[in-house]
Amino acid sequence: MSFSVPPSSADLLAAGPAPTADMLAADVSEFHVVLTGDRPTGSLRLGHYVGSLQSRVALQHHVQQTVLIADLQALTDNSGRPAHVAEHIESVALDYLAVGIDPSLCTITVQSHLPALAELTMLYLNLVTVARLERNPTVRAEIASRGFERDIPTGFLCYPVSQAADITAFRATVVPVGDDQLPMIEQANEIVRRVNRLTNTSVLPECRALLSNTPRLPGIDGRKASKSLGNAIPLTATHDEIVALVQAMYTDATHLRVNDPGHVDGNVVFAYLDAFDPDVEAVCELKMHYERGGMGDSLLKRRLIDVLEETIAPMRDRRVMFARDRALVHELLAAGNARSREITGGALAEVRRAFSLT
Ligand code: TRP
Repeated sequence: MSFSVPPSSADLLAAGPAPTADMLAADVSEFHVVLTGDRPTGSLRLGHYVGSLQSRVALQHHVQQTVLIADLQALTDNSGRPAHVAEHIESVALDYLAVGIDPSLCTITVQSHLPALAELTMLYLNLVTVARLERNPTVRAEIASRGFERDIPTGFLCYPVSQAADITAFRATVVPVGDDQLPMIEQANEIVRRVNRLTNTSVLPECRALLSNTPRLPGIDGRKASKSLGNAIPLTATHDEIVALVQAMYTDATHLRVNDPGHVDGNVVFAYLDAFDPDVEAVCELKMHYERGGMGDSLLKRRLIDVLEETIAPMRDRRVMFARDRALVHELLAAGNARSREITGGALAEVRRAFSLT
């Protein structure tokens, strides 16, 4: 991490592709403000860990950072299940604490407790056309996958605008996300430029996505990981769950006998070893051996089970510890909400002033 770089140089806002976690060390300076969020619709999974949580844990020592539990955004496509969303606020908070997010270094907050976000959303809605929202590729894909067809909840279509409010209310300059979120960042920056141009100010900063080295971890069957498919590994899987999920993992359908040459590309076990095995050289050798033939799937899987157990065991332990003290978790959230209400209220006041809404 670099600390002495002024915001004007080595700036993540410079044009170019979104940086990855490797570039993060060189690029993110103490001047950056980092915000990410998760919808509380289920427990977080290993994909979330390599996709974003890991960067947040690393970043928390170096920058001002907030993680937002986006309950209002979760309701945009879960309006019929408010109790489910409410329950998962605490479970996502526990997942954060489990992976090592330290509330003394990184603020954890809940979207619906920050009224400034709703006010900013209201203002920004006037700056975005329906056609632009309908063109957002992530929103389009989500509409298709949820089968909304013509019955799209208005809140759902507009959630990128509310996400722009999340980002700008914290004056975030860096947003660690998966690549599916790049259209949201683009849309947020369009709104920022519009606000600044309309008000003839620079009241809002633009932000930059920060991509992980592993933006997409496949499900155990090689398809996109999803809760409904049951093909993802939860962050706090038990040892037996890890064993069962890794045993069921797809390898290479053409690798029938141990001595057959095997394929590494598209092999889910290798995708996970690449993401989690700290011994990169050993994995490289395993790959060569597998491709040559003579390396059985069971040996590979045994290694992956050990690697995942080592990754997950400390998370599991921390989660159990915090789950025992729910009052503490609620206190941490209340403190995070109070701090965030101040920050977001301040940004809202400035935007209001820029728009002469005084
Ligand atoms: N849309 C994000 C997701 O589905 C969650 C989110 C809400 C978010 N607000 C945010 C991410 C602000 C980054 C910044 O994962």
